[in-house]
Amino acid sequence: MRLRRPGVTTPGGTVFLSASRGGLTPISVSVFHQSLPDDSVTDLGRYSAGLTVPAEVAWPLGRLGPVTEALILPYAAMMAVPESAPEVGGGDYALGRSAAETDRLIAQHHLYGPFTRQFLVGAGITSGMKVLDIGSGAGDISLLLAELVGPQGQVVGVDTDPDIVATARDRVRAAGWTTVSFAVGTIGDLDLDRDFDAVVGRWLLMYLPDPAALLRQARTLLRVGGVVAFQEGDIRSSARTFPSAPLHEHLARLVTPPPGAPGPDVDMGPKLFHTFIAAGLPAPQLRHDTPIGGGPDWPGFSYLTATVRNLLPFLDKVAGITPEQLGIDSLEHRLRAEVVEQDGIQLLPPLIGAWTRV
Ligand SMILES: C[S@@+](CC[C@H](N)C(=O)[O-])C[C@H]1O[C@@H](n2cnc3c(N)ncnc32)[C@H](O)[C@@H]1O
Repeated sequence: MRLRRPGVTTPGGTVFLSASRGGLTPISVSVFHQSLPDDSVTDLGRYSAGLTVPAEVAWPLGRLGPVTEALILPYAAMMAVPESAPEVGGGDYALGRSAAETDRLIAQHHLYGPFTRQFLVGAGITSGMKVLDIGSGAGDISLLLAELVGPQGQVVGVDTDPDIVATARDRVRAAGWTTVSFAVGTIGDLDLDRDFDAVVGRWLLMYLPDPAALLRQARTLLRVGGVVAFQEGDIRSSARTFPSAPLHEHLARLVTPPPGAPGPDVDMGPKLFHTFIAAGLPAPQLRHDTPIGGGPDWPGFSYLTATVRNLLPFLDKVAGITPEQLGIDSLEHRLRAEVVEQDGIQLLPPLIGAWTRV
């Protein structure tokens, strides 16, 4: 990636730099900084080294005064559109393709799955239906759908990543469902049936360059009266605790892309209503859910730690943040203790659901 020229500087806030990859794809790189004592521009040069950012781009930061935590936000760097970006993904998947990331998706489902179940039931998914799960990932929604539609129903999962589809197949087999099948690809590439009772998806549209186009395509696979039901994050609302806890705040900031950063659309949840209408669908009904909890057994602490852990290669590469600096081995313990000692609670980023009938 090559930075073309410095962009807007906002004193005391976020600095955006125009950039290009291979001179073709305009992106922006967000440089987050805090007013802290000492080194500044030098540090940015060092932090930027992983991106081969030329030293001269650091100059606008000189106006901002002392900066110690000059950090090219990992999401911005990770989500920069690669030259060989697959059409559907809109960029590299920040959290990587690994067994650890699949485990994190499954842990994420433990926190958000109960809301997804209520959402799907509320949207009218019921026994005997034939449902398409787009961007099926590790198969969590397909497994949930298998229960909802029962032995008389049918579930088809579609995902572009063959490895995660293999995991989903294994999990469905282990659970004993014979009514669930998977295909690798996009709904545009695959020769799918056109008599589904419902098409659903979660945390998919945020990765697509044209989410409304996918909804339009999905509609063609539905029978008349079929259901379209999608859940997406409101990631701009980052994880937080009450009372506030410094380590938690630091980690939440590391994993939250700033507004305007390239990569997944942090506003996809709030945009669902508009996107459905833009796709020519009837105005959807909406639902908003936030996982919230406290106490030593609350799984949100391990979930946030797992997210940071899976981002570590990027944190190290783009921001010089090492596992040792974060104390990764004891991170979860310290995070939990910090909140639990105050009888505090954690709120995770909300999930917004939209559903309609065609
Ligand atoms: C964040 S994961 C979410 C997985 C699952 N829906 C869940 O809620 O746990 C997004 C998944 O969408 C897949 N994906 C991205 N673009 C896609 C597309 N156009 N068609 C099908 N799958 C896609 C990715 O490979 C990834 O497995």
